[in-house]
Amino acid sequence: MSRGSTTTVRSVARHMGPRLSSTVTGNGSLIGAMRASTGLVGYEVAWWVNSYPVFGGRNASTMTLGEKEQKDQKEAVGGGGTTAATSDGQRGKEVASYWGVPPSRLTKEDGSEWKWKCFRPWETYQADLSIDLKKHHVPKTFLDKFAYWTVKSLRLPTDIFFQRRYGCRAMMLETVAAVPGMVGGMLLHCKSLRRFEPSGGWIKALLEEAENERMHLMTFMEVAKPKWYERALVFAVQGVFFNAYFVAYLVSPKLAHRITGYLEEEAIHSYTEFLKELDNGNIENVKAPAIAIDYWRLPADSTLRDVVMVVRADEAHHRDVNHFASDIHYQGLELKDSPAPIGYH
Ligand SMILES: [Fe+2]
Ligand SMILES: [Fe+2]
Repeated sequence: MSRGSTTTVRSVARHMGPRLSSTVTGNGSLIGAMRASTGLVGYEVAWWVNSYPVFGGRNASTMTLGEKEQKDQKEAVGGGGTTAATSDGQRGKEVASYWGVPPSRLTKEDGSEWKWKCFRPWETYQADLSIDLKKHHVPKTFLDKFAYWTVKSLRLPTDIFFQRRYGCRAMMLETVAAVPGMVGGMLLHCKSLRRFEPSGGWIKALLEEAENERMHLMTFMEVAKPKWYERALVFAVQGVFFNAYFVAYLVSPKLAHRITGYLEEEAIHSYTEFLKELDNGNIENVKAPAIAIDYWRLPADSTLRDVVMVVRADEAHHRDVNHFASDIHYQGLELKDSPAPIGYH
């Protein structure tokens, strides 16, 4: 490995933790160090290192200006550039760039091309289906009762609007479910900056939740297409809910997390009803969308029922995380005082 590329690895490794930056000298030791610090198995790390251009010494930002100019000329002559995908799974126009930013084409474990640009192979996981779906936080304090009844009162208009259209219901509600994690994560991020203090991992945990919810939406988009008036409804609801939740989180994160905890309990209920409809044959148990098979590492012959099962398990995890966060506040602590359940699926 050249000196330039070793520097690149070191600079990247520094972002990944102190253990990595002190031990990295080349791809071999890098793989070992990453395996130790990330918990990834050997082939995953090797694949990641070899797939990501920044580890291959191709990062243009480390080149001398002369090298860059030569590379630019080569690309101009040879049509070098990167392929941009117009949407997941579809390749579009060639984008000429000398920045070296876009990742090289990734491959799955079976060697086929990784076609999703909205998530990467190392963000996939297998859902823990053994999680207790019946857990419920009994509201005792005024704040908890307020949170509980706020969520319950939202259920009635939702039931009336969607009736038994659970596919559509899931898709629409995921547009709301992905908001609390992002708002909470953003506010904790700003708080961390203002107070010069760490977050205990909660920024990452909440943003992970938001991303996971958005992946639920991307999945249900494959089985239900929103009509124009549903898109308009999402537009309006997001405007109201984002701001309401933002204010609620500023005033009382204890209340905000409790509300989200109860929303997740309702989501579990909705997906259980969805499963009943699938089992009754009222909703056709179609083949699982390809995006879901890759995201949750499901078997190739999985069905919509399998997808609903893993999504419901995700909701149960979100329920636990948010009730836990509220409980931390109830104990007179701040979230940063208790390590966040990062990667809790
Ligand atoms: Fe969700
Ligand atoms: Fe959720």
